[in-house]
Amino acid sequence: MPVGIDDLAIYIPKLYVDYKDFAKARGIDPQKLEYGIGIRKMALVDTNQDPACMAANACLKLMERNHLHPKDIGRMYVATESGLDESKAMNSFVVGMLEQVYGEDAFEHAGGIECKFACVSGSYAIYDNANWIRADENNGKAAIVIVSDIAKYDIGSAGEYTQGAGAIAILVKDNPRLLSFDQKVTSTIIKNEYDFYRPIGKETPLVNGNYSNLLYLIQVRKAFDGYKEKAIKTGLISLKDGESITDHIDYFSVHLPYRKMGEKALAYLLRHEWRSLPRWRQVIRELGMEEPLPKDPRGTIESILADVEFMKTDDKFRRAFMQTSFYNEVYEKKMASSLEASAIIGNLYTASMYMGFRSLLEFEYKKGVELEGKRVGFGSYGSGSSAMVFSGRIQPGYKEVVKKMNLEDEIGTRTKLSMEEYEKLHEGRTLALNESILHNSREFVLTKVGGITADKAGFREYVYAN
Ligand code: COA
Repeated sequence: MPVGIDDLAIYIPKLYVDYKDFAKARGIDPQKLEYGIGIRKMALVDTNQDPACMAANACLKLMERNHLHPKDIGRMYVATESGLDESKAMNSFVVGMLEQVYGEDAFEHAGGIECKFACVSGSYAIYDNANWIRADENNGKAAIVIVSDIAKYDIGSAGEYTQGAGAIAILVKDNPRLLSFDQKVTSTIIKNEYDFYRPIGKETPLVNGNYSNLLYLIQVRKAFDGYKEKAIKTGLISLKDGESITDHIDYFSVHLPYRKMGEKALAYLLRHEWRSLPRWRQVIRELGMEEPLPKDPRGTIESILADVEFMKTDDKFRRAFMQTSFYNEVYEKKMASSLEASAIIGNLYTASMYMGFRSLLEFEYKKGVELEGKRVGFGSYGSGSSAMVFSGRIQPGYKEVVKKMNLEDEIGTRTKLSMEEYEKLHEGRTLALNESILHNSREFVLTKVGGITADKAGFREYVYAN
């Protein structure tokens, strides 16, 4: 029985900062942001928004669009790294909001949890729910997995231009219209790391930027090795002489902290997969330089990063490789469409890869490409750290869903903030919940945090603003 993604609905907050204003204020070349990072607009939450109400807004959209009633849903998971409470799960807030629309106890029969593992937890949540359906524990019901996050970094830090915010609600069911997961090939890897983390009570993360970039590449590559082994063993993919497993994957959708990171992840993967194949000689010929090796090829990430000469030459090689016809053919055909959304929204942490998948579907469809049967390979990464690699095939019913996709329309009219407004909002200086910049209707908003009495401390109140 095919199980996978039937539909996905997005909610992106309507405030943003423009990269040109940002570059000017921080004294950065705007070309660095547009091309070096790959960002033009960064989505920001208003004073009366949080990850729970973004999640509820995405979920309500998904349910209304598919004429779903709460009785059709058996599980609702929220995957996030922007938790609101150390104990009370974010999906409970979401259920509370949705029951304002569907009636008290409308979701009582269902279940679900909040999942956390930086940006990868949504993939684990989807995997668990797909298996819940395959195990026939679902009593004919579907699952909704919501990925929702606010990527917020310190003002003036290198992470500041990789911010963003938004939520995606993903409908997981049998006989899905969009994508059916390939079975018995999902591969994971896990290791205790401190590349990016946010200690309890701290609003912004502690980031070792370059370390986190390299770790992301290495961990996804290792999980990809596990995927490859399983795909060959199960007969999902069989390789002829000189073939690479990347030849059997029609699209790549990877974790996207920023657009450029997707491009770099593809380059890293292709180098790894092609290096031992006859075609590599042709690549090297076009490049006109040999691939460099670190002083200690079996060294740690720290020793590789400290190998300054290698890092410099490897960077030169990587840039040159990304200019080759070999890389560009794969990039244009198999990845470019998945990166479109990231450039106008920014980092979405748990939701970033799924926004990439959503972007891939819309922009490939608009190019007129026939997608049925195409295999999408996913490279999900969460700092701390764990990676998950899996794949799925686009299903015959995809057109019914994809033809209605329109990113700009779904985001809605957006309001550009000045850098002064952005900074005020970022620091939460004088703005209270009721001082929101926008007054959106037909959305859940946060109206109150905490009560006057001690027993109401930590309460969060939301309303559906008409
Ligand atoms: N025009 C065009 N490109 C330019 C440029 C210019 N004037 N100036 C710099 N660039 C390019 C750099 O060459 C570099 O490109 P490359 O990636 O191809 O090498 C890119 O812009 C980034 O610049 P760089 O100086 O290397 O990095 P940074 O100090 O700005 O930091 C991050 C970038 C991603 C490390 C930082 O934003 C960060 O820490 N982000 C949060 C952590 C994160 O997202 N980690 C990802 C893994 S989960």
